[in-house]
Amino acid sequence: MTFHWKKQFEVGRQEIDLQHHYFVELINRIETTLSTTDDPDRRQRLMMELYKYAEFHFLSEENIALSLNLPNVVQHHELHKELLEQIEHHIADVMAGLMSADAMINFLMEWFAGHTIHEDKRLFSQSSMTHAHPPT
Ligand SMILES: [Fe+2]
Ligand SMILES: [Fe+2]
Repeated sequence: MTFHWKKQFEVGRQEIDLQHHYFVELINRIETTLSTTDDPDRRQRLMMELYKYAEFHFLSEENIALSLNLPNVVQHHELHKELLEQIEHHIADVMAGLMSADAMINFLMEWFAGHTIHEDKRLFSQSSMTHAHPPT
């Protein structure tokens, strides 16, 4: 099963959409790799890539939001912090054989879709308000 990009994932900022596109690619690569290799080293490296990319993306997204003077970045950071803890926890479970590849992929797809469509979109929708032209 391939996780396809959906129009509703677009938050309206090119640099954010670009990072989200890469996330979708990464989730697909994780699915392919976890189902085709048992090599613990390769699996570990891939899980590390997921963790580091999520960490990078969250920081970058918050920095872009801060540079746009958007409100609620602190609250959004709290969501990212919780997500990163969940990801870390699930990675440990995958590596210990306590979580299946399917369950991990489902978690990633649900989390990505839910957070992007609801939280990221809400955060960045406020930038169009900030920069909206006054009615003429
Ligand atoms: Fe995001
Ligand atoms: Fe976010």
